[in-house]
Amino acid sequence: MDYDTFAAVDRFIGETVVAEDEGLRGAVAAAEEAGLPAIQVSPPQGKLLALLVRLVGAGKILEFGTLGGYSAIRMARALPEGGKLIILEANSEYA
Ligand SMILES: C[S@@+](CC[C@H](N)C(=O)[O-])C[C@H]1O[C@@H](n2cnc3c(N)ncnc32)[C@H](O)[C@@H]1O
Repeated sequence: MDYDTFAAVDRFIGETVVAEDEGLRGAVAAAEEAGLPAIQVSPPQGKLLALLVRLVGAGKILEFGTLGGYSAIRMARALPEGGKLIILEANSEYA
């Protein structure tokens, strides 16, 4: 599959299947407002990350590269009660 097809399918799934809420939209809006690049995972990719967290029964997550926190929010919400998410961001301007 070429990139354009992948992007079109990803966008379609994001618009039709994967729900976003105020918190997720707010994180993207705040990142944009702060001048961060829009390179976060897409909504379907974020949903997949959350699914993987649940599938492996993760209780602790270490994220390298947090940017505006979109993927971190997706994964944090998939953790069980008492779960722990540690986030790292190399770029001090983004952090
Ligand atoms: C594609 S963005 C991540 C987006 C974020 N995970 C999301 O989807 O919401 C990659 C991020 O990784 C950061 N980064 C790159 N190398 C890193 C490292 N070695 N340690 C921590 N952060 C790093 C970059 O500064 C950038 O913000």
